[in-house]
Amino acid sequence: MKTGDIEKQLLELGYINEPVGPGIPLVREIDRMRREKNCVILSHYYVEPELQEIADYVGDSLGLSRQAASTEADIIVFIGVHFMAETAKILSPGKKVLLPDLKAGCSLAESAPADAFARFKAQYPDHKVISYINCSAELKTLSDIICTSANAVKIVESFPREQALIFAPDKNLGNYINSLTGRNMVLWDGACMVHEQFSREKIVELMDQHPEAEFIAHPECTKPVLLLAKYIGSTTALLKYVQKSQARSFIVATESGILHQMKKACPEKIFIPVPPADSTCACSDCSYMKLNTLQKVYLCMKYEKPEIVLPQEIIDQAAAPIWRMLEVSD
Ligand code: 13P
Ligand code: SF4
Repeated sequence: MKTGDIEKQLLELGYINEPVGPGIPLVREIDRMRREKNCVILSHYYVEPELQEIADYVGDSLGLSRQAASTEADIIVFIGVHFMAETAKILSPGKKVLLPDLKAGCSLAESAPADAFARFKAQYPDHKVISYINCSAELKTLSDIICTSANAVKIVESFPREQALIFAPDKNLGNYINSLTGRNMVLWDGACMVHEQFSREKIVELMDQHPEAEFIAHPECTKPVLLLAKYIGSTTALLKYVQKSQARSFIVATESGILHQMKKACPEKIFIPVPPADSTCACSDCSYMKLNTLQKVYLCMKYEKPEIVLPQEIIDQAAAPIWRMLEVSD
């Protein structure tokens, strides 16, 4: 979308009351406001490279939560998706948390409406609930503990083996953790629209074309895809793996934004993104993550909108399982 169109949309939504104007040096202005307003800019690995470059911290969901919990800034500018900014607000309720585009959602979070999940949970009164951080604040209030893909095994193993468990909302991650831990967690039927699209056929084709390359994958991928992988891990774990592996090239099954950090860390290595099964484009983008743009970051810092606002009781109830996760995974 062009700057003019973004402006029009933001004006219509009431987020801004004057246009950006041509020729504004966005990065310089963002930097000035960061200092003057005491903002910290947090970016997820899946956003566009220029948005990773302007960040004070780039990371995975766990790292970003830790940063949000410990920052001394007055304003957190979250360049990611809604559940991440919500988590930041829950962990730092006294701070102003800005998300450049409130429509930056997540298919996993949307797959688990709190009311439907509450009915599901009621069928299993003896079960504890572990929820993947990719869920709404309301779902977090129904959870005993939160996890991310980086700490899911540790969180599951913090419960005695005899404790029955529900895992929500990602059935693929839940299945994978069941297979690693030998548990039989009851799974909510949710999935990530990006990771679920990778097909075994396309990956086998790529592996045939690049026999020297190692295939690595995020655990949100389906089981048939994970069975092909040499290494499975969270975005941070995948990034660490490509740095320590002896291989010179990698076929990467996760959102394409992570390739920016991989190329920066290992400029001499080759990274081949896996395209979605039914597409002719070369890599897989999360359309929600990609709603973030430099223009929207500039505008949200200027107007301090859109802001994440949550009822106090939701903050209070959702905070406990997130802090429990941070305690267990430290
Ligand atoms: P991590 O960055 O925690 O691996 O999660 C990936 C993801 O899907 C974020 O939306
Ligand atoms: Fe959600 Fe998947 Fe996008 Fe991550 S990549 S924000 S899990 S839709």
